[in-house]
Amino acid sequence: MAKKILVLSGKGGVGKSTVCACLADGLKDNSKSVLLVDADVGFRSLDLIMRVGDSVVYNWLDVISGNCEAAAAPVIKENEVALLSAPPAFSDEITAESFGELLGKYDIDYDYILIDAPAGSGELHKILAGSVDMLLLVVTPDPICVRSAEVAIDRALEVKPSLETAMIINRFNKLEVMAGRQMKLDDVIDGTHTRLLGVIPESDSIRLIPSGEEPTKYAASAFERTAKRLLGESVKFRIKDFY
Ligand SMILES: Nc1ncnc2c1ncn2[C@@H]1O[C@H](COP(=O)(O)OP(=O)(O)OP(=O)(O)O)[C@@H](O)[C@H]1O
Ligand SMILES: [Mg+2]
Repeated sequence: MAKKILVLSGKGGVGKSTVCACLADGLKDNSKSVLLVDADVGFRSLDLIMRVGDSVVYNWLDVISGNCEAAAAPVIKENEVALLSAPPAFSDEITAESFGELLGKYDIDYDYILIDAPAGSGELHKILAGSVDMLLLVVTPDPICVRSAEVAIDRALEVKPSLETAMIINRFNKLEVMAGRQMKLDDVIDGTHTRLLGVIPESDSIRLIPSGEEPTKYAASAFERTAKRLLGESVKFRIKDFY
């Protein structure tokens, strides 16, 4: 059975979709099969980040509605990570029950299903949270983002209080922290009350992924180490990078 993880943030534009794509690559490099589900209904982006936009024919609402077979909908990037694209608009057919059934169709084919949530925290988030095993917060080290992340995770936990939770701090920049322009990691952890899974640096190589850039070795290794922690391995944080 796949482990199903909802990636959420509260505030928008913090890097959820980018983190989903790169974390999927990190899991794949550890021999895990991954299905990415773009749940940003109306504003899909993962197909562009994964550079498979031209190959998308169906979206996951097509599977729910019976317009296509479950096996026909995912687009496979270089025969590795699979992507289910987001529908262009919300529909009454998207319910907690139908979304759970949708994920159930892919359960045995994948080790991990990562669901890329839209920004905010509304009805769709409740639907998504009802079908997952874990909530993965993505935050940037700034107070506005941290406050919204705390609200988003608390609301998702109202749906299912027993959910495992973890957090990735994205766009970390030690120089900005030293200059007092970014929050310290400890303060981010205190603000969200959520276990730290990984720290991803601010990097032009990550920002330019949709244009065909590959993450630098340093950036890619941050995702690899985060993926290993997700797999339960004990990977130490490189404290010297942070203080
Ligand atoms: N670690 C990083 N370093 C530099 N740029 C980054 C990093 N992570 C994400 N970005 C950039 O930040 C922008 C927003 O990223 P992304 O679309 O992944 O965020 P999001 O949280 O999914 O947004 P939305 O809430 O709109 O869905 C993009 O331009 C992306 O390339
Ligand atoms: Mg996104």
